[in-house]
Amino acid sequence: MSQLKMTIDRTNERSKINKEIYGHFAEHLGRCIYGGIYVGKDSPIPNINGYRKDVVEALKALKVPVLRWLGGCFADTYHWKDGIGSPEERRKIVNIHWGGVTEDNSFGTHEFLDFCELIGCDAYVAVNLGSGTVQEAAEWVEYMTSSNVSPMTELRKKNGREKPWNVKYIGIGNESWGCGGSMNPDYYSSLYKQFQQYIPSNGKIACGPNATDYNWTDAIMRNCQYSGMRGLSLHFYTVPTGDWSKKGSSVGFPENEYYSTISNTWEMETLLKKHDAVMNRYDLDKKIALVVDEWGVWTDVIEGTNPGFLYQQNSMRDAILASVNLNLFNEHSDRVKMANIAQMVNVLQSVILTEGERMVKTPTYHVFDMYKDHMEAKLVYSHIENKQILDGRYLPAVSQSVSVDASGKLHITISNASLDEDFDIDCVLPRTEYKTATAKILTAKFDTCNTFDDPDAVTPKAFDDVKLDGESLKFTLPKCSVLAIELC
Ligand code: AHR
Repeated sequence: MSQLKMTIDRTNERSKINKEIYGHFAEHLGRCIYGGIYVGKDSPIPNINGYRKDVVEALKALKVPVLRWLGGCFADTYHWKDGIGSPEERRKIVNIHWGGVTEDNSFGTHEFLDFCELIGCDAYVAVNLGSGTVQEAAEWVEYMTSSNVSPMTELRKKNGREKPWNVKYIGIGNESWGCGGSMNPDYYSSLYKQFQQYIPSNGKIACGPNATDYNWTDAIMRNCQYSGMRGLSLHFYTVPTGDWSKKGSSVGFPENEYYSTISNTWEMETLLKKHDAVMNRYDLDKKIALVVDEWGVWTDVIEGTNPGFLYQQNSMRDAILASVNLNLFNEHSDRVKMANIAQMVNVLQSVILTEGERMVKTPTYHVFDMYKDHMEAKLVYSHIENKQILDGRYLPAVSQSVSVDASGKLHITISNASLDEDFDIDCVLPRTEYKTATAKILTAKFDTCNTFDDPDAVTPKAFDDVKLDGESLKFTLPKCSVLAIELC
């Protein structure tokens, strides 16, 4: 077992970790909304006004801060008036991007915003820029958020909602360089400016780049920096093999694919640094946020499931991947103000999977749960003398972040991606007087999943191999594990 030296400088407080970094994304895709979140009031599955009771409880426990809806690619095909009024009379449409299935629009504006109120999170709604009009988008925002008298607010009241909802963020289009209209950045900039002019909101998020498209970031910042842009989105998915035509499986994958997945995940670090550097050319004060509103692992679908539904399992590997990403977002929280894992239930890297009336919390769920004390805390400086796992490709063994919350407690989250080696962490915390250390660990064989028959195969446990002695903290970090330590 090797020793790794770590330093935490509690006196070096850095940026605030916005709670929205722990946000989620839910699209009308596969069984995310229907079956995953919403089953309808008449369902035999226990529900609260149609929302699954088990899912609501699990999400409340996670303290979900913000939920991005309704796409994704679906957003730029959506006409919001299809999803209001009596559910029986709502227009049925074809979901052209995701399996060509019928979308009956029974989950619409009211159902989404009421759901956010139920689980206690902020709402982030993406308006249709790709195939919709400025008037349609402006009217939707008015319908949702205005307390004034207008045809749209009258319509809302007629549909049963007197008071406006609080919609904190509005996304102006989604992946406008791809499924949202195949635009070039200058064309998108002009449309963004036109749309945003008629949308009263302090939370407008412009469509940002696809992964490494730094030209896109540069063009949008140059063209739109003074046009009410609260944030610029970034989408990046980890593909295990790196090959979109054969992404790799979410179950029973080999060890080398585990390592390529984690190594590919570290690409996020480069993206955050480089997009931040481009944004700095226009916005050194970091007033415009980088919003990573789609991230996670994207594997081949589970065999026998609809390829358009993007249903995959979730393993201990994905817990390590989540840990690396969340630590990176914390570390870059001076620029990254929101992130939304794709997607909340039953799609891609979900925190929850459902099958009929059964539900499981995935290993990724547990990572979010173990990290939730970072929300709204202050990032503090930490450094570890890291070790490379693989020769020839970037793959640090350890990933960490440290924060101090409003009550002064210190929260350390740290993961070990190595499958062979435990580490003795020898950490110094100069000028601190913490008295007690408590810790939780998530660990299992790298491909272990929580299944409907074995829902707790990967679940956090108390961990007591942590010794705090004055300014010294020593602990063992087992291979393939995520650890959360709290110092009081
Ligand atoms: O999350 C699945 C899809 O990935 C989204 O609809 C789209 O925005 C992205 O390409």
